[in-house]
Amino acid sequence: MEVIIHDTPQDAASTGARMVARLVREKPHAVLGLATGGTPLPLYRELVRLHREEGLDFSRVTTFNLDEYLGLGPGHPQSYHHFMREHLFDHLNIPAENTHIPDGMTPDVPAFCRDYERRIAEAGGIDLQILGIGSDGHIGFNEPGSSFASRTRIKTLARETLHDNARFFNDDPAKVPHHCITMGIGTIMDARCVLLLAFGSGKAEAIAGMVEGPVTASLPASILQHHPTAKVLIDSPAATALHRADYYRWVYENKPAWQRE
Ligand code: PGA
Repeated sequence: MEVIIHDTPQDAASTGARMVARLVREKPHAVLGLATGGTPLPLYRELVRLHREEGLDFSRVTTFNLDEYLGLGPGHPQSYHHFMREHLFDHLNIPAENTHIPDGMTPDVPAFCRDYERRIAEAGGIDLQILGIGSDGHIGFNEPGSSFASRTRIKTLARETLHDNARFFNDDPAKVPHHCITMGIGTIMDARCVLLLAFGSGKAEAIAGMVEGPVTASLPASILQHHPTAKVLIDSPAATALHRADYYRWVYENKPAWQRE
């Protein structure tokens, strides 16, 4: 696991966007795994800027999103379909048919989930998966206790997640859908590279547990210690509970330039 600490979310997002841009330039038909929530927003803004100002071309890129609330259609303002259009897809030259997000209205959840896994495999697998982390250590909506072998499936949101996400639903946790479709931890671990972002002191304990604690299903993100290419891009407040923060900073500062992205 490589921990990269920047002073601000914007700095971290710029580094993350350069990693995505390098992949897309080297492999124009790259497959990206995408996340929603507050965390990836500065990264998406930077990707839109790179597209507009530097011509970063997404016309052959394919994307798969991690998750979607069950019961919210693509037109619902809090659906992740809406989020992705508003914050990314409407501003890039990515063909709509290349983008994939779980269908929160599917009448047959198990069949949809099997098909989502099949489509990821047919696309050649995910080259780079962008992740946030929940304050309870979830990745995607894989809440504590999720199997490390899990694939795309229905999950029930934890109470902590309902409270964390209530800010998008008039501050009422009861209004947050209680179920979702999410890629599994096994699905995420199959990505060739994982880029996890976390900003703010509210994520400090989860980050410390993920990076320096035991690998345990009680903190799902800790499985990334077993991923061969996991990069953790965080700001200083999210790094405050890390015992070896100085070492991670020292490693990054002493890297040759070619190895930084
Ligand atoms: P956030 O959510 O980016 O809105 O903090 C992260 C997550 O739940 O994975």
